Amino acid sequence: MEKLVIEGGKPLEGTVRIDGAKNAALPILAASILAKGIHVIENVPNLLDIRVMLQILEALGCDADFREDKVVLNTDGAREFHIPEHLMSKMRSSIFLMGPLLARFGQVRVYEPGGCAIGLRKIDLHLRGLEALGAEISEDGDTIVCKADRLRGADIMLDIPSVGATENIMMAAATAEGITTLRNAAREPEIVDLQHYLNAMGANVLGSGTDTITIKGVESLKPCRYPIIPDRIVAGTLLVAAAATKGSVTLENVNPAHLHAVIHVLRRAGVSLQVEGSSISVNNAARPKAIERIVTAPYPSFPTDMQAQIMVLLSLADGFSMMKETVFEGRFKHVDELVRMGADIRVDMNTAFIRGVRRLYGATVEATDLRAGAALVIAGLAATGTTVVEQIHHIDRGYDRIERIFQHLGASIERFVEAPAVKHSS
Ligand code: EPZ
Repeated sequence: MEKLVIEGGKPLEGTVRIDGAKNAALPILAASILAKGIHVIENVPNLLDIRVMLQILEALGCDADFREDKVVLNTDGAREFHIPEHLMSKMRSSIFLMGPLLARFGQVRVYEPGGCAIGLRKIDLHLRGLEALGAEISEDGDTIVCKADRLRGADIMLDIPSVGATENIMMAAATAEGITTLRNAAREPEIVDLQHYLNAMGANVLGSGTDTITIKGVESLKPCRYPIIPDRIVAGTLLVAAAATKGSVTLENVNPAHLHAVIHVLRRAGVSLQVEGSSISVNNAARPKAIERIVTAPYPSFPTDMQAQIMVLLSLADGFSMMKETVFEGRFKHVDELVRMGADIRVDMNTAFIRGVRRLYGATVEATDLRAGAALVIAGLAATGTTVVEQIHHIDRGYDRIERIFQHLGASIERFVEAPAVKHSS
């Protein structure tokens, strides 16, 4: 089993270029199924989830070639519409293939992805959206089957601005007959990137980034060449790490407009931050300030995918902070691990109460999900002594060899297949 061993206490220093966004690349790779031919997707991050998505596309009959940050994907050979269970169980985002497969083949069979460490993760809104477009939905054992000879445009209202449901409906409606209006849609930058990709293939989608998206169905789509946007969550994670270690770090190839809520919160914590074009710099020598109240919510509010990382900063802040998680039901699993490192955090329902401490101490901790894992790495970098982070496969899903990113910024962090025994300072 792989583990990360971190000697904490060193301020991070240097410059990092941000890779493409996982949460934009996954739906865009899925959308490629909508158009037969050779697609060239650029700025694709080298992540576990991306490789699983390519495995699924190959299992469906596509040819995928992934070199450096470019995917050349030939979808001519796609003929399957049943996603293999062993691949589906590896990654919830395989659900993004429902809309494209239904649109291309008139049917799709998927396994109910079920919940994960951070919450129930239901797909009822995805299914209701496809049903509104004319799909018949049925269950066959543990598979969900959707069938539709021809999808037709519809007026759809989402109960929750779900990112995944918005993306699935956009992709299914792109070649449907007539106009689809999607209300209370998710507004994340990754949704806007998907609209740009669909339109680059010849679709007619308008309004993403707002809560109402209009999709005028077209007869067919054609493959294209497309660069993915930078990853705002990886960028946010590195900004917090720089602030928590009192370091000075510059990120290049970021889109600061995608990080407004994160930059706002960092500035409220007293972090000195400069934004210039497509780069953001942190030069932070000060102890962070407490923040009375942060509430996670759909974009453009403060992102749930940055909640755990910011909680590390608040656990070192001068004073008392509160963090309310409103997007996922079970996204505080990192709290117990941070408390093992000396943090003073109490959770009541969906709210965490954080009393800042002067320092954290190294310990052996476990990553329970992707962003919780990244937060524990930040805590280890800021802590006194040695931290061992276990279950790091979670982290590899969203960070390309995180230890190399931080080594590049001067941190003492190593990946071990089997970590040597370490003595923790009392
Ligand atoms: C996307 O997940 C992201 N994943 C998540 O990032 C992110 O946390 C989330 O959006 C919210 O921003 C990808 O893009 C691959 P949702 P998704 O549908 O689409 C409920 C990361 O760390 N819901 O917006 O699954 C659901 O249970 C990951 O990179 C329903 O009830 O999120 C949740 O409570 C983690 N029924 C809420 O809505 C549905 O049919 C938001 O989920 C769909 C969702």
